[in-house]
Amino acid sequence: MPAGSTPTPTPTPKDAFRQRLAWTTTRTIEVCGITIPVSESLAVARSGDAGWDSHIAGIRPNSSLKSTVKTILWPLRRASENILGHQFLQYTLARWIKQYANENTAFLECGPGDMSLRRFLPKSIAYNAVEFGLSEFQVRRVLARDPRVNLVLGTIEEIPLANSSVDMVACVEMLQHVPDVDKGLRELVRVCKPGAKIMVTVANGHCVKVKRKGANRHFVHLFTEADIRSRAESAGLKVLEHEQTGKWVPVPQNLIGGHSMHLPIKSAREEDNCYFVYLLEVQKT
Ligand SMILES: C[S@@+](CC[C@H](N)C(=O)[O-])C[C@H]1O[C@@H](n2cnc3c(N)ncnc32)[C@H](O)[C@@H]1O
Repeated sequence: MPAGSTPTPTPTPKDAFRQRLAWTTTRTIEVCGITIPVSESLAVARSGDAGWDSHIAGIRPNSSLKSTVKTILWPLRRASENILGHQFLQYTLARWIKQYANENTAFLECGPGDMSLRRFLPKSIAYNAVEFGLSEFQVRRVLARDPRVNLVLGTIEEIPLANSSVDMVACVEMLQHVPDVDKGLRELVRVCKPGAKIMVTVANGHCVKVKRKGANRHFVHLFTEADIRSRAESAGLKVLEHEQTGKWVPVPQNLIGGHSMHLPIKSAREEDNCYFVYLLEVQKT
């Protein structure tokens, strides 16, 4: 190497990360030069609504100009999500990950969105994820750069994994988008090992915010606490921990671009909490 030149770092190979799960599919698509596995029976579209519309799976196209603008604005977007959105829910999940995950944990996230939860995992393990709709921006930002990410385009209702292969799952604010949520919960039980931990957060479909503003148009379920708990128990899941949190702050919509603002405050009345959070355990032999 010529004197004074900097060595190019060798990229970490994907298989350097432990517990990388093998998707049971041979189908793939190419997105921005990246090969992404796709569940065998999933109909995939290139559509701006993919993943937002619960019936359209696939890739949301972004031109490279749009991706560049999004890349520049991404830190601002993250900061506003931290202040306005539901990012604080991740801190409860981070506590459970710290408590239950180690270098032997096969971890799976369903509906990962920007995949930011992966920052809380032990550094040595793969971040496996099933996503229904993905933007080209996230493909360029995350999949093209982070070798620990192992993502399949698919649905929680039909996860392309062998039985009893997963130790820990996260489903953050996604079950309210899943048409057959009971099938999704049964799939989680199928792919999980006995005693596996499943962390779930869902929107309270009957909170004060929903009563005042109306429900998010993308939701296909408006859950109560009793509803989601009984669905989880019927699927073979035991509630180990539960909390209700997220106080809605009714800031005028035009001040915050149509978003809602929540604070990580737990209220005594169910309707004053925007989110239900669960740590569930898989009960099977
Ligand atoms: C509200 S976003 C939440 C994203 C992320 N978990 C977060 O907390 O920011 C819902 C996510 O669930 C995904 N999703 C919707 N239906 C799904 C399904 N049937 N299977 C897997 N993911 C799904 C969407 O594509 C989207 O990424």
